[in-house]
Amino acid sequence: MYTYRYPDMPHHRRDAYSCGSKTKKSKTTTTTHAKYPDDKNDVCTQAAVVREVGDAHALKVENDYPTPQMKPGQVIVKNEYAGVNFIDTYHRKGLYPRDLPFVGGQEGGGTVAAVSDEAANEGIRVGDHVAYSVFGSYAQYTAVPAAKLLPVPEGVGLDVATSCVVQGLTAHYLTTSAHAGLIRPGEWCLIHGVGGGTCQWAAQMAKLRGFKVIGTCSKGKADVASALGCDELIVLDEVPGASYEDYESADIVTRVMEVTDGKGCKAVIDGIGKSTVDISINSLAHRGIFISFGNASGAVPAFPVLRLIGKSAYVTRPKLLDYTVDRAELVSRADEVFGWLKEGKLNVSVDRAFPLDQAAEGHIYLEAGKSKGKVLYKID
Ligand SMILES: NC(=O)c1ccc[n+]([C@@H]2O[C@H](COP(=O)([O-])OP(=O)(O)OC[C@H]3O[C@@H](n4cnc5c(N)ncnc54)[C@H](OP(=O)(O)O)[C@@H]3O)[C@@H](O)[C@H]2O)c1
Repeated sequence: MYTYRYPDMPHHRRDAYSCGSKTKKSKTTTTTHAKYPDDKNDVCTQAAVVREVGDAHALKVENDYPTPQMKPGQVIVKNEYAGVNFIDTYHRKGLYPRDLPFVGGQEGGGTVAAVSDEAANEGIRVGDHVAYSVFGSYAQYTAVPAAKLLPVPEGVGLDVATSCVVQGLTAHYLTTSAHAGLIRPGEWCLIHGVGGGTCQWAAQMAKLRGFKVIGTCSKGKADVASALGCDELIVLDEVPGASYEDYESADIVTRVMEVTDGKGCKAVIDGIGKSTVDISINSLAHRGIFISFGNASGAVPAFPVLRLIGKSAYVTRPKLLDYTVDRAELVSRADEVFGWLKEGKLNVSVDRAFPLDQAAEGHIYLEAGKSKGKVLYKID
């Protein structure tokens, strides 16, 4: 038996979480698995839904989407923000296939609106401010396992907290763990695309870790990048007709070697992929590590392992899920990031918040490379 508590929901929705249910449920009820998401009787929430994969317009805003039902151990979050990430566009396009239909997004922040008994036993209360990463955040309500909730401390805005979940935690593990200790304070690190979302965070966190940082960025984002505290900023021309960097417009490797007295960088953090792989490997120091975490310009092509022999170099291709394997790891990363935010040691730019009913515009904006920080949906 699980008690549903949701005092901030509209009155007509309090008796049963699924407002369209014909049979009124009691307040204390055994958890049932809703015929989510296709039960037309359970329609009452706004969500940006993908029913067929495609371009940004495949993301359709529906105002009669079924509210999620809360399972044991979960809470229902009333979202105030949802984060827009590149991976959402990969799901929407079908590049990373998912069962259809699905509610877009996997990053949200808001207020706890309903609590299962198990979550209540963990100390979670209606009204708590939380951020999280689970599928289905482009909606007014999302069911979230208690173990995935990050309590947002006072003094950190929900917009900033939402921005932190994917990009902030990614930057944290990239600068804290993915380098496997092969770089130490005082040594050089190269970070590509520091005008972009994740790497704005990563450049600042690398400095907090005591590394010396060389950043690359496009001319159009040099204003944002120059505020991050990089020791050396390599500003690149943009690809004609695009807003992102032309990585051939400057000799990055030569500059890296000049700046590092010919030694190279002990770690290279690269979310650009195809356009930067050669630069990254050639910029490494002996026994340095190439951390290839993304493919904004396309997937990294295969290369022979023998290529690493010149510097006895290391390569890793990490992902956030493997660096937040359990609640303890998730919370310890988030605590440190929220702590830095509260202390003013991290400066996070929220670029723009689109209303959820402009969901397609949010994806178009992100994919055009126009953002200089986090893109969010504001959800009423
Ligand atoms: N492995 C993980 O754990 C993990 C976690 C989060 C993200 N990612 C991946 O990391 C990548 C970046 O994500 P993000 O959230 O940081 O995105 P973002 O904020 O949009 O930043 C993307 C960066 O890539 C550059 N860029 C975009 N398109 C490009 C192109 N066609 N050619 C060259 N450069 C291009 C941008 O350059 P400008 O700044 O000049 O526009 C920007 O610096 C994505 O592939 C994402 O899926 C991986």
